[in-house]
Amino acid sequence: MKKILELLRDEPWQNLTDKAGETLLKHKGSHVFVRGLIEFSNICRRNCVYCGLNANNRHIQRYCMDGQEILRCAQAAKDCGCDTIVLQSGENECSAQWLAEIVAEITGSLGLPVTLSVGERKAWEYALWRETGASRYLIKHETADEALYARLHPGHALGERLDSLRLLRKLGYEIGSGFMIGLPGQDLASLAADIALCRDVGVDMCGAGPFIPHPDTALASAPPGSAKLVLRCLAVMRIIMPWANLPATTALATVDPQNGQVQGLQAGANALMPSFTPAPYSGNYAIYNNKNRVACANAAKAIERAGRTHRLKI
Ligand code: 5AD
Repeated sequence: MKKILELLRDEPWQNLTDKAGETLLKHKGSHVFVRGLIEFSNICRRNCVYCGLNANNRHIQRYCMDGQEILRCAQAAKDCGCDTIVLQSGENECSAQWLAEIVAEITGSLGLPVTLSVGERKAWEYALWRETGASRYLIKHETADEALYARLHPGHALGERLDSLRLLRKLGYEIGSGFMIGLPGQDLASLAADIALCRDVGVDMCGAGPFIPHPDTALASAPPGSAKLVLRCLAVMRIIMPWANLPATTALATVDPQNGQVQGLQAGANALMPSFTPAPYSGNYAIYNNKNRVACANAAKAIERAGRTHRLKI
């Protein structure tokens, strides 16, 4: 923890990125993974204080794509050369069987690995999706500060998240966590705890991006997280968790549309997640305001600008 905090707070930027760059090349090489993100539903039962999809928000139109639409998006992501499909939604009650069939179709007919990112669900549902072919599960711990977690997720506790992560790992999933940077009430020690938690759980993936205030939430007037701090966190994560796949998040591209993705890759990230969610759905997947949808072509450009390699077909 102390070492993480020192790196975050004190290490000169050039040293930090040199170390992160060396670690990246040694452990992951220059290749950047590209995940095709399909945000198939924005229906959510939770009331996370920071999130525009919170159940109380009446300003967005709720949707759930049908199976055929989802498969068409997955095909488009495959055609463009994505190596994985990420199926993401708000935490809702969509039928586990229905989702299992979609997972089976994508892993079977399209032959692409599927990552699920659909929140906390029942153990038998995680198990069913694993059996039908899902191999990875993203469920961010959001903040390792228990008191802050409880304030941001009324009625819920950090321990529930960690239990889900452990259960998913036991079921044979590769697991992904992540956290927000720049949350009101968060300090550097708290961010060091986030990184230590991911290291200690041994997560396979970690998505850390800036907090971005959303107008339809109680945190509307809070300041956003800084891109610079996100980049420092990425570099420290690369050094502390050399094995992990670290995406340069779309939230980072939102706070810095020109350079967010490129700088994220240069700081130690090795994955991008362009969205394949079609309009009008994409406009209603408003986790935070003004989300920059990093299309596939942009992903390729960012990877090339960062001097790295990809297998995109564009
Ligand atoms: N700013 C940044 N990230 C957010 N998320 C949700 N709301 C925000 C926000 N306002 C992220 C969280 C969550 C995922 C659905 O999106 O990390 O896990």
